[in-house]
Amino acid sequence: MSNFLYGIDFGTTNSALSIYDEDKKEILTTITVPSILYFQEEQSSSAPLNYVVGDEAIAAYLEDGMKGRFMKSIKRILPRSSFIETRVHNKRLNASDLVTYILRELKQRADAFIGQDCRKAVIGRPVFFDDDNTDKDALAQRRLSKAAEQSGFEEVRFQFEPIGAAFAYEKTISKRERVLVADLGGGTTDFTYLILDPEKVGSKDRRNDIIATGGIYIGGDSFDSAFMWDKGTPHFGKDTQYEAGPGKMLTVPVSLFANICSWEQMNFFNGQKIKNDIDNYYYYSKQNRKFKNLLTLINNNLGYSVFQSIERTKVELSKSDQSEFKYAKMDIEIDDKISLENYNQIIEKDLNKISSYLDEFLQNAHIKPDEIDSLFLTGGTSLVSAIQSLFQARFPDTPVHSGDNFISVAKGLAYSGYLFEQEN
Ligand SMILES: Nc1ncnc2c1ncn2[C@@H]1O[C@H](COP(=O)(O)OP(=O)(O)OP(=O)(O)O)[C@@H](O)[C@H]1O
Ligand SMILES: [Mg+2]
Repeated sequence: MSNFLYGIDFGTTNSALSIYDEDKKEILTTITVPSILYFQEEQSSSAPLNYVVGDEAIAAYLEDGMKGRFMKSIKRILPRSSFIETRVHNKRLNASDLVTYILRELKQRADAFIGQDCRKAVIGRPVFFDDDNTDKDALAQRRLSKAAEQSGFEEVRFQFEPIGAAFAYEKTISKRERVLVADLGGGTTDFTYLILDPEKVGSKDRRNDIIATGGIYIGGDSFDSAFMWDKGTPHFGKDTQYEAGPGKMLTVPVSLFANICSWEQMNFFNGQKIKNDIDNYYYYSKQNRKFKNLLTLINNNLGYSVFQSIERTKVELSKSDQSEFKYAKMDIEIDDKISLENYNQIIEKDLNKISSYLDEFLQNAHIKPDEIDSLFLTGGTSLVSAIQSLFQARFPDTPVHSGDNFISVAKGLAYSGYLFEQEN
């Protein structure tokens, strides 16, 4: 039997597990799965729930004609105290249960790889699960710990995700550096400022090297929601008028559209009343086809596929200054041209929040720009062109490094075995 440790990054969009061989002191491999859950429509009421995780979840959901329960961005519900449980068929699932499905999947795949049952893990967590509310943060941490336990882990330590990213970067440098790490993911943007030193890799206590950590609850999901709000909802009836009484035209309340802009809402969307309202708007707007689109979207569970189109547009705009927002399913048809300039306007509010948070972070920790030797940017959202411009503009003379956008955190967590050795 060898000794292994898993570094687990449970991400809003993607999760990853690095298998660390503690005897050889190296990572054997890193397994990744999209953080997506799908419960098939057909279930037997006596057997445990049938479910699929990751890419297979997407395939099964499409194959089943988008029926069943599809859940994305589950990490976002961890700090939600208003979320107690959801019912899937006749089973009640709480936040930890949902996360367990993903952690267990990663563990099973990794255990199969090493041929052992490894119960030791360093699990990542964002610096703040929610913006600065300590009760919610503690709740999220408890729920994640419970999920780790339910997944079969017995020895668990937690590490801030950006510190994980930093340790992965540390493996690639040859001299001591004071580094600002920004990990921009699907749910959160996390920062850490620390001293990295190749000679200290794996050493027992890094507490004194980690000078500041911080984060903000904005990431790729926020960009996608802003895009849906700006470019998507007008196709589904936002800003459309209906006849509220004889001769009295009103615009549909915008609150209706919040439901289709975020995954917190979409995952647990159960809207008989909302569907009735939309039916009414459809009727009283003289069958405006935009409301028909909204009914089609909701009745056929098309949310994920619309968001896939939104993500494709975003990814395209990371390499090009022109793209299209295209969607065609059932009777919904969208084909809009989007320039990078327009996209940057859509996400401007979020960009400004990231930028002001960065100011606050540097100020609170008394970090001056000339005290940063290099920047390490990681996470999928670090590929967004306006994000890269933001960092270039803020630190014009500082070298910017990046690498392994989707697995650096898991790798660095796997290098965090020192957490088991230090006294608390
Ligand atoms: N080429 C790209 N351009 C822009 N955004 C991208 C690109 N590729 C992925 N993304 C976005 O990156 C995000 C996922 O990044 P990542 O896997 O780092 O997040 P995560 O670790 O799951 O989330 P978090 O760390 O916040 O919990 C998604 O919002 C995705 O749309
Ligand atoms: Mg991440």
